Amino acid sequence: MPELHRMYFHFSELPLSMRALFTCALIVLGTGYLFAMIYIYLNNEGRDGIAGLSQEDLVIAYSGSKSDTRLEGALKASMSSMLPNEEKNIIVNWVRRGTEKAEFEAQVQPVFEKRCLACHDGSNPHIPNLITYEDAIHVAALDTGMTIPTLVRVSHIHLFGITFIFFVLGFIFSHAFVRPRWLKSLVVVLPFCAVFLDIGSWYLTKIHPGFAWVVMIGGGLMGMSFAFMWVVSFYQIWFYKLPANVTRPDANPYVAR
Ligand code: HEC
Repeated sequence: MPELHRMYFHFSELPLSMRALFTCALIVLGTGYLFAMIYIYLNNEGRDGIAGLSQEDLVIAYSGSKSDTRLEGALKASMSSMLPNEEKNIIVNWVRRGTEKAEFEAQVQPVFEKRCLACHDGSNPHIPNLITYEDAIHVAALDTGMTIPTLVRVSHIHLFGITFIFFVLGFIFSHAFVRPRWLKSLVVVLPFCAVFLDIGSWYLTKIHPGFAWVVMIGGGLMGMSFAFMWVVSFYQIWFYKLPANVTRPDANPYVAR
């Protein structure tokens, strides 16, 4: 007869308030994860000019495009809905022809004034200013991907955030009944390994584009263990009974141990 660890309590042995708390945490974390996936998709999809998220999109995001400038990258992805295609071509052609000042003033500046300056007038310090020729030149330089300071900033946010998410989820999941034991521990540990794989590859993708695959594999592993822990926990909190042949070590307090 398999015996439970004396420190282990299955969900069904926990008070209702704890099961309610775990359930709420699962629902909010699950929704958060969903929005994170949507965010990753919307933010990176189409960087290579082709709809949908691909390895090439991630390579461009982290190491830059060997043919695109930040301006062109933005026009293809997040800024693409801001202007019609004819005006997009005016800007792209200006960049490709070598960003001449006269052409900027004659053709590009009117488009910027009409379509872009509502937001890019310098009032928001986090987005590039597009008022003058010098401002525009700045984003028309060759795209080298996310800068190291940006990666460092996003890394520390990720490391802290993901630790919290997977600590909470793993703690809840630790009350599930899963055999073999090694599998249960593996599922808890995996996302913590995957986060290093993921973040490490952001930097390495700058050196070799092949690491964009590792970014995707890291994200995939994290997603798989998240889904597994979430589904198993949710199911076992409300619908699962421990198998009848599982016993507590203290089922009979008079048995010497
Ligand atoms: C409704 C507000 C708004 C308008 C209009 C707008 N942008 Fe943006 N733009 C943003 C925001 C917010 C960001 C930063 C977040 C992002 O990259 O999506 C941004 C980012 C950018 C970036 C930087 C992208 C990067 O990789 O760092 C460029 C370049 C850009 N916009 C160009 C343009 C151009 C060109 C137009 C006009 C055709 C335009 N934007 C119109 C809000 C706007």
